[in-house]
Amino acid sequence: MPAYVIVGGFFGDEGKGKIVAYLALNDKADTAVRGGVGPNAGHTVIHQGKTYKLRMLPSAIVSRAKLMVGAGVLVNPDVLLDEAKRYDVKSRVLVDYGASIIEEKHLDADRVGHLKEKIGTTGTGTGPANSDRVLRVAKIARDEPKLKGLVGDVAEHVNGVVDVGKNLIVEGTQGTFLSLYHGTYPYVTSKDVTASAICSDVGLGPKKVDDVIMVCKAYVTRVGAGELDGELSAEEVQKRGWQEFGTVTGRLRRAAPFSMKLAKRAAMLNSATGIAITKFDVLFPETANMTNYAKLTIRAKKFVEEVEGEVGVPVVLIGTGAEVSSTVDRRKN
Ligand code: IMP
Ligand code: MG
Repeated sequence: MPAYVIVGGFFGDEGKGKIVAYLALNDKADTAVRGGVGPNAGHTVIHQGKTYKLRMLPSAIVSRAKLMVGAGVLVNPDVLLDEAKRYDVKSRVLVDYGASIIEEKHLDADRVGHLKEKIGTTGTGTGPANSDRVLRVAKIARDEPKLKGLVGDVAEHVNGVVDVGKNLIVEGTQGTFLSLYHGTYPYVTSKDVTASAICSDVGLGPKKVDDVIMVCKAYVTRVGAGELDGELSAEEVQKRGWQEFGTVTGRLRRAAPFSMKLAKRAAMLNSATGIAITKFDVLFPETANMTNYAKLTIRAKKFVEEVEGEVGVPVVLIGTGAEVSSTVDRRKN
């Protein structure tokens, strides 16, 4: 029963939430733990007709897994408590003592000046809160009364899960090219978000991880400022049916065709062992809701083989619809 890390291969919004939910259910995860930046992430999971919108808790919420948040993640207590209450999961939530707290002043600072005007951040306070952490003046979860009863030693727990051979899912957020170090600086988020950083966020060393699953959407999208090779006009995006709006910000996402170049570089930066391609049915409508690889059309399989050939990493999962169950699992067929 291995430990997996799930990361985004492009600029976020690759559909990691659905992949995490699928793996948690199918592979019977004992625990899912959130790494990544904080509530700037927006994950949508649709399972058995019910839609879950998450910004703080792991997308494994649809399974029975324990739901944890690592020390490296910024926590907005109101957002976290709201999700725990809305989905009635408080009894299986644990936040690491050391996680930094986002306060009102961080939200205010993220909604003005160059962060808003130049970078086009999500305005969720994450950059200013990380900045306070670096200055060593941030409040941490241990000292936040709103989180009383929900904090503990997440690093100890997740290492224990791996040590006894149970399945652990480590959930990253954002995408490789939004990494503070490996992304399109300065149009990036406020920390590294590649697999190594996600493991560090939750207190797992590099030798404890078996698989790194890199999630790439069948086309590339980006919100906010920064380069996007092959960017299409808004009309063309609409014509192709690739129009998307941000979960957190409601902004229209910019879009471009799938990029082998980015996928290849992201596979290197994350040491990806498997690729998950999401929204495959948007590119190949005839594959909608399919779950059997053999039944995909020749042109659809050709795309998958091209990705594997160019990137040099096997495509293990293919998302063919919004529901968690609309997934081709090539580990099985
Ligand atoms: P921040 O992370 O809110 O500081 O925003 C910095 C940049 O990262 C902006 O371009 C945001 O649009 C982008 N960003 C942050 N989180 C996400 C995400 O979860 N999905 C997509 N873009 C994101
Ligand atoms: Mg998102």
